[in-house]
Amino acid sequence: MSDTLPILLVPDARLKARARPVLAEHAPALSDLVPRMFATMYRAPGIGLAAPQVGVPLRLVVVDLLPEEKPTPIVLVNPEIVAASEETTTREEGCLSLPGQYADVTRPSRVRVRHLDLAGAAHEIDAEGLLAACLQHELDHLDGVLFVDHLSPLKRNMILRRLAKEKRLKEPQ
Ligand code: NI
Repeated sequence: MSDTLPILLVPDARLKARARPVLAEHAPALSDLVPRMFATMYRAPGIGLAAPQVGVPLRLVVVDLLPEEKPTPIVLVNPEIVAASEETTTREEGCLSLPGQYADVTRPSRVRVRHLDLAGAAHEIDAEGLLAACLQHELDHLDGVLFVDHLSPLKRNMILRRLAKEKRLKEPQ
């Protein structure tokens, strides 16, 4: 099992930044980073993790919904949404960078995501249900967007204030 990485928590400016495309020169670093991202995600536990959440400003996401509890890891390099349904679905979301916080988020019900794998091969995923929500949530991270950014300012500020207070309490004086 690879070593885990610390997950950045809100508030952190690195979670609000736009990540850069993965280039060929990043490949050696990725062979170490990707197993560590999976180890971090499985341990949390979570179903998705974006590189900016571990302080790496690259367009890279790992996902595993563990269907029927079977590991089904997906690595998405430079992912983009190329189509989205007009129909929307509302479901409760949480985020490893906003521990203990959950809220209903409305997003397109189905999306088509184009991405590369670690070998540089192109893939498309037609996602619906939980996978569609998870992919949109993780891809948002690459643009510095958090699930709370989809909420009303009132709800968002309530959650952000709560997290800022918890972080202050946890930090050594
Ligand atoms: Ni998240």
